[in-house]
Amino acid sequence: MTPSPPWFPDEVGLAGRENLDSAHVERYDGKMDADPAAEVALLQRSGLTADSVLLEFGPGTGQFTVAAARVTSRVIAVDVSPPMLRKLSSKLSDRRIDNVTLVQAGFLSYQHTGEPVDVVYSRYALHHLPDFWKVMALHRLRRMLRPGGLLRLWDVVYDFLPSEAEASIDAWCDLGGASVEAEWSRAELEEHVRDEHSTFSWLLEAMIDRCGFGIDDVQRIPETFDSKYLLRAR
Ligand SMILES: C[S@@+](CC[C@H](N)C(=O)[O-])C[C@H]1O[C@@H](n2cnc3c(N)ncnc32)[C@H](O)[C@@H]1O
Repeated sequence: MTPSPPWFPDEVGLAGRENLDSAHVERYDGKMDADPAAEVALLQRSGLTADSVLLEFGPGTGQFTVAAARVTSRVIAVDVSPPMLRKLSSKLSDRRIDNVTLVQAGFLSYQHTGEPVDVVYSRYALHHLPDFWKVMALHRLRRMLRPGGLLRLWDVVYDFLPSEAEASIDAWCDLGGASVEAEWSRAELEEHVRDEHSTFSWLLEAMIDRCGFGIDDVQRIPETFDSKYLLRAR
């Protein structure tokens, strides 16, 4: 493998302070419901079958990974965070799930070998990359997917005008609780805006198009900034 050039980003350094923190990893499943059954059902309606190979980026503690592994032939789960991967690995052993391959790598460093996959899944992970690197990640994902394959991309996306940014972000941060035990604390939401790389919907959608995906569907939840894209590789 050729070494990365000096301008290549450190994906672990960009992964988000909390995702590298074992205490956060232990709390994660209590704070977050990734709605895995509904996500799997949506993918099945859109073409996921028992023979599909699914590649997931940023599985975290693997709520979706576990559900997907039960209905498809193989899952490759790629995450940069050692504590997240340790948690997911022990979950898979406890449940005796043996068709998941865990890879410690990221959107930019994972090296896919073999046939292009049928489905790529990623929830709340792409925003860790700055916009230039989001494009490079989407470009790489397109090459890992077969034509007609699906990319389910769910992330925090800013779907407001620049002139509305201050009021919209303040309202979003107001959803946070006072303590770290809250589902998400105000400080965590402020940290997301300040230190991570969520971007405007009109920028992300231009990247999606440029990288060779069509938008089959998008569901936006304005209050929480969630955008759930169902993308198809052209
Ligand atoms: C907020 S968690 C989301 C976990 C899970 N997908 C969910 O929806 O509950 C974000 C995950 O993305 C991972 N991550 C961050 N940057 C990444 C990158 N460049 N490549 C792959 N995974 C990354 C983090 O380590 C973390 O496990």
